[in-house]
Amino acid sequence: MKPIYILNGPNLNMLGLREQEIYGTETLEDLRKRCETRAKALGLCVDFRQSNIEGELVTWIQEARGKSAAIVLNAGAYTHTSIAIHDALRAADVPIIEVHLSNVFRREAFRHTSYVSPAALGVICGFGPKGYELALEALASGPETGKKEAPRQGA
Ligand code: DQA
Repeated sequence: MKPIYILNGPNLNMLGLREQEIYGTETLEDLRKRCETRAKALGLCVDFRQSNIEGELVTWIQEARGKSAAIVLNAGAYTHTSIAIHDALRAADVPIIEVHLSNVFRREAFRHTSYVSPAALGVICGFGPKGYELALEALASGPETGKKEAPRQGA
């Protein structure tokens, strides 16, 4: 079975320590365990990674083509800046779900732009670590799991 790549961007290694009022107390290791447990219950397997380096994330997204069943991506602040990650996602040819722990739309205006969203099947934000589980559930059950884009409204 091909794994679902769960890719985490910069500063997510600081979970549990950084801005607890926004990101909560769960650590990245807790999040990894949560994802692995949920994936197992859904009959999926995951490859969970984190990097602070934009190019490393790009390399992993490139690797996901062919090697992964899907990508769940929390690109952290690169979400709002990285055309390189956007381009890599467009070439990935697997379903992509964008996840954020916080509700980025309740926060600063610079977090309202995402270079990930145009390449994503869907976006989950504001539900904390549970959002990662919701992404796995969507991939396990959604009829459009195998499609790159969700059907357009009214199409
Ligand atoms: C984040 C939101 C981003 O705006 C921020 O830069 C992060 C974390 C989230 O999970 O809520 O690092 O992606």
